[in-house]
Amino acid sequence: MARHLITSALPYINGIKHLGNMVGSMLPADVYSRYLRQRGHDVLYICATDEHGTPAELAAKEQGIPVAEFCAQAHDAQKAVYDGFALAFDHFGRSSSPQNVEITQHFARRLGENGFIEERAIRQVYSPTDGRFLPDRYVEGTCPHCGYDKARGDQCENCTRVLDPTDLIDPRSAISGSTDLEVRETKHLFLLQSKLQHEVEEWVTAHEGRWPHLASSIARKWLTEGLHDRAITRDLDWGVPVPADTWPELAAEGKVFYVWFDAPIEYIGATKEWSDEQPETRDWKSWWYEADAGDNPVHYTEFMAKDNVPFHTVMFPATQLGVREPWKKVDVVKAFNWLTYYGGKFSTSQKRGVFTDQALSILPADYWRYFLIANAPESDDSSFTWEHFTATVNKDLADTLGNFVNRVLSFSKKRFGDEVPAGSAAGEAEAKLGEQIAELLAEYENQLEALQFRKAAAALRALWSAGNSYLEEKAPWLEIKTDQDGAALTLRTAMNLIHLYAVVSEPFIPATSATMRAAFALRGDTKTWVTADEAKSLSAVPAGTAFTVPPVLFAKLTDEDLETYKERFGGASE
Ligand code: 2FM
Ligand code: ZN
Repeated sequence: MARHLITSALPYINGIKHLGNMVGSMLPADVYSRYLRQRGHDVLYICATDEHGTPAELAAKEQGIPVAEFCAQAHDAQKAVYDGFALAFDHFGRSSSPQNVEITQHFARRLGENGFIEERAIRQVYSPTDGRFLPDRYVEGTCPHCGYDKARGDQCENCTRVLDPTDLIDPRSAISGSTDLEVRETKHLFLLQSKLQHEVEEWVTAHEGRWPHLASSIARKWLTEGLHDRAITRDLDWGVPVPADTWPELAAEGKVFYVWFDAPIEYIGATKEWSDEQPETRDWKSWWYEADAGDNPVHYTEFMAKDNVPFHTVMFPATQLGVREPWKKVDVVKAFNWLTYYGGKFSTSQKRGVFTDQALSILPADYWRYFLIANAPESDDSSFTWEHFTATVNKDLADTLGNFVNRVLSFSKKRFGDEVPAGSAAGEAEAKLGEQIAELLAEYENQLEALQFRKAAAALRALWSAGNSYLEEKAPWLEIKTDQDGAALTLRTAMNLIHLYAVVSEPFIPATSATMRAAFALRGDTKTWVTADEAKSLSAVPAGTAFTVPPVLFAKLTDEDLETYKERFGGASE
């Protein structure tokens, strides 16, 4: 069994994330991790809050509390929501951890020793009104590339171009709004990415064949534009300090590393946080340091939205290559387009769309998990609408799956009592069903392994539908009038389908899967997956197994519910 390292882009610490963030990184990573664990692989799923940089400082300032305190609270608040979504991280860390500080400083020292970091005097935006330099998001203005007037100093949200604060047209301070800005000279560390261009290009060429198209096309675009040297330090109070043993002057001035320098390193830092919790049994380095991996190599998959792709396919690999140590680099980059809200932007800063905590206050996680993955913005952007959401829940979850489960179990209980009935031996219809289920299961597995989440959802839905078609065809409620044993066989087969659904639906809807599984009193039911032969024979739940009828699995959403949601969240983007 293989070792799978899985990371999802680290959510910024400021603010609870919206459904677009969830579907573009953490949720698909969780589905994939759960699937691989069920298949018996050794999986390590790592995520963390991205705590440094201007967003954290600005948010803390807004609340009037120290930034460390703000981050501690905001981390716990995000973690609670992710627990609510049943995201089964092996570790959810914090990029402000001592582990990340140590590894980030180590990376910087090594890059310096290897000639990839240089001190340069640069011109930075300074605000006399605020009495400080204004790096990154501390400056806002108009994007020189697309004309978007709320572009931030580090990146334009509209065209995704990476910017320097001095690029912005009509700049203003994000702290005070002051437009009285000047440019002053100050020293910073630069990562000489231009010296690594050739190596990164070679590395991308060797690996992009295994990345889904969206990731490789973005990486190529960036390489074509060329890798530029970039300032990797900032004049901020909050961040990983520049190590004083290597750059005493800059350290004395209180410079810290740029958030995008230490954030991807936190994938490693968080793994060390995990390992430090139980050092006797966990070995972070065996996951990250190829020399320590032994004869069991790690397969590393990263999940992220498209704006993060340049950092993960070009910039972080450049850093890793320049360190000249055998750090594990990504094998597969799975990128997502945007989930829109009625065709417009979900926006954390403008509070538009549905936020993850609000979603959980309306309906349990499984409703969202299924809908979001089934409509993941994979090949294109996809639009969230309440109409689509309620229709999908009603059709797929309430009717196709939920109703099947309740109908079968209630009818069997009524006619045959509390145990799975025996009935006749499996016949032609059951053989045909078994073949079909095995085929659909193989399709589902293939799509999950190919990281094609929408197609995987479609295969899962087809598995659920196959049960409905079988039930309609056999119609045990009629069959029972003339052939008791035949009806018992139909119900026993349908109950076996329910158990199969419980096992294979777990990556998508873990709580409902647990409920379905618990309906059967199968002693020592440790089944983690279903083989093709088991799918064909549909016999994991033998006659005589006691069962209970669970409460309705998915409530049907009414027109009234739909109106309430639209009223609360707005039916369209303005
Ligand atoms: O775009 C974002 O939300 C960033 N916080 C992602 C960081 S991913 C990683 F590299 F840390
Ligand atoms: Zn732009």
